Amino acid sequence: MNILLLGSGGREHALAWKLAQSPSLTKLYAAPGNPGIAQEAECVTLDAGDHGAVAAFCKTHQIALVVIGPEAPLVDGLADSLRAADIPAFGPSGAAAQLEGSKGFTKDLCARANIPTGAYVRTASLHDANRALQRFTAPYVLKADGLAAGKGVVIAETLEDAEAALADMFGGGFGEAGAEVVIEEFLSGEEASFFALTDGENVIPFGTAQDHKQVGEGDTGPNTGGMGAYSPAPVLTAALQAQAMETIIKPTVAAMAAEGMPYSGVLYAGLMLTETGPQLIEYNCRFGDPECQVLMMRLQGDLAAIMLACAKGELAGVSAEFAEETALTVVMAAKGYPSTPEKGGAIDLGTAEEGAAKVFHAGTKIGADGGLIANGGRVLNVTASGANVTEAQRTAYEAVDAVRFESGFCRRDIGWKEVAREGG
Ligand code: AMP
Ligand code: GLY
Repeated sequence: MNILLLGSGGREHALAWKLAQSPSLTKLYAAPGNPGIAQEAECVTLDAGDHGAVAAFCKTHQIALVVIGPEAPLVDGLADSLRAADIPAFGPSGAAAQLEGSKGFTKDLCARANIPTGAYVRTASLHDANRALQRFTAPYVLKADGLAAGKGVVIAETLEDAEAALADMFGGGFGEAGAEVVIEEFLSGEEASFFALTDGENVIPFGTAQDHKQVGEGDTGPNTGGMGAYSPAPVLTAALQAQAMETIIKPTVAAMAAEGMPYSGVLYAGLMLTETGPQLIEYNCRFGDPECQVLMMRLQGDLAAIMLACAKGELAGVSAEFAEETALTVVMAAKGYPSTPEKGGAIDLGTAEEGAAKVFHAGTKIGADGGLIANGGRVLNVTASGANVTEAQRTAYEAVDAVRFESGFCRRDIGWKEVAREGG
């Protein structure tokens, strides 16, 4: 079959790399893609916001499956438009993508379906929000309701900081996303990510990971989209995964179906492993970036066939196998990230891919002189496997050290918690 993959990040390069290995793939197209994706797919220009143009491209090129990488086109209802044109799409409908698109929607659903998550208040005015704050204690967790590119969450240590953050949110600091705000109970524990595939009815587990959201070593400094990740996450034991599946994932899928918004695609649950068990922090309606990169390193079998089964409601009897090895990815970012990343810095991958590592491209492009240059905040995802986190980390950093990227930087401690637990 022919597949169209939408997106241009490291997540999409990892998906393209795995799709290209799928026996059921005939030809892979990507829009817009990037120089890494171009090694696996024919990159084309298509505006994901123009649903008619995407559907027309699919008809002309006999596309049997569209894989929608990022959240924005999903929340915008692209999967609905494709399905209306009889084109199978991997990814939820606009209504179902509210699980990521609206934090308040998800909290209300959890309340209705009795899914473990922090207590919360949903407010639409600064006055109500300030009043609601009195019902919580520090640290205060404040979330802009809508999509805010991973930056819509503020954890305030004092009441004054919380009030200032609320004033900023309602004052337009997060644009439209902050028109409503969720205030929620602070949960303590270790965070881990759990992935499931669902066709709206059947649900299968699709791996675990942990990422490093903060820009600085030792998990310090401002939050980013993610500076590195590894999979599996040993803290999410088989027992905890089963508990998350039964108490969080399956009730969510059942509630969405019962309410007329069946969820299809990958459901990415951000979990807090609390003393009383896993609690939901947030849902995403797409793969994590860079979590996808480590999942794809471990996935066995035909990704294209699994995604098509998911898109067509035929996931019953399908299972996904992952290698037991650990995969770890280090994000190389442009200096200045996350606020003002330097653009245009030269990159030479050198011998980075000659060993066991794979370099996924995120924000790269081909410069005027034909060489690879930086074109975004997160630029490369240097990814390797090993018997455990310590070994995968060693191999990944050997490859990082082979890359020449003067205007770039990375954290040197991806996986540190697990390396310490492994005694490394
Ligand atoms: P989110 O964008 O919802 O994943 O939130 C970003 C980060 O804020 C999470 O990865 C957590 O580290 C933190 N966070 C969000 N909600 C809570 C909560 N209720 N309790 C503690 N930390 C939270
Ligand atoms: N790495 C976090 C995310 O993709 O949301």
